[in-house]
Amino acid sequence: MTSNNKNVPRLGVNIDHVATLRQARGENYPSLIQAANTCLASGADQLTIHLREDRRHIQDTDVEAVQLVTKKYGKPLNLEIGCNPSIVEIALTVAPDWICVVPENRQERTTEGGLNLLDQENFDKVLGVCHKLKSNLPNTKISLFLEADEKIIEKALELKNAIDAVEIHTGDYAKNFLDGNEISHFMKAYDRAAKILRNNNIHCHAGHGLTNESVIPLLQSGLFEEYNIGHWIISEALFEGLGNVVKKMKKSFVDVSGEK
Ligand code: PXP
Repeated sequence: MTSNNKNVPRLGVNIDHVATLRQARGENYPSLIQAANTCLASGADQLTIHLREDRRHIQDTDVEAVQLVTKKYGKPLNLEIGCNPSIVEIALTVAPDWICVVPENRQERTTEGGLNLLDQENFDKVLGVCHKLKSNLPNTKISLFLEADEKIIEKALELKNAIDAVEIHTGDYAKNFLDGNEISHFMKAYDRAAKILRNNNIHCHAGHGLTNESVIPLLQSGLFEEYNIGHWIISEALFEGLGNVVKKMKKSFVDVSGEK
């Protein structure tokens, strides 16, 4: 079921986690391409992958291979990148539909927050990357991964001509939701951030840490046009599929042993 309806937000599925599993054993499975096909055939509106400097999950060859799948389905590829010049060069060659600029450090388990635009050196680096991407890739849209902090969002407006969207980091919200904590302050911050962005014609996306439950209040708020969700979807897919796969393996045992 794809959402052609403009009122239904887009679902981008982050498939890095399939590559993480593959890299853990250095095998060719699980197949990232099969995952890409399955997501798009099942209604995902976009695929998201993060080519990290340390190549811990997505590999260079995966980027083109996933892009071919998105092209086959006529759906966007959203490539997440840090500001490392060699990764930016790859993004320029790939020319994906969207590029989401994210902070990256080698020690983190996953992207731990939005870009720190309040640090001038960092801001200048992001500015340089955005201008380079925009001037070389006129058909690629750019988003910045940011916290819903008013000062940061206001600072992002200085990049207004070089960006198309902001993806709000929902990781802390999602953690607090799962722990049963108060979430109203997150919702207020998201509302303020989305208003500022909308008033400046910048699209508002969301992502990180979301589950099928924590995404509900966000969907109800109507603030975000797009969500990028990965870890929960891939985790839940285990339990939607595990029983069937055990049955399949057990069937081979029984078939080969000739028992009825
Ligand atoms: N958006 C961004 C910018 C991310 O870095 C990630 C994680 O790679 C996601 C969304 C998806 O987060 P999760 O896998 O926790 O759903």
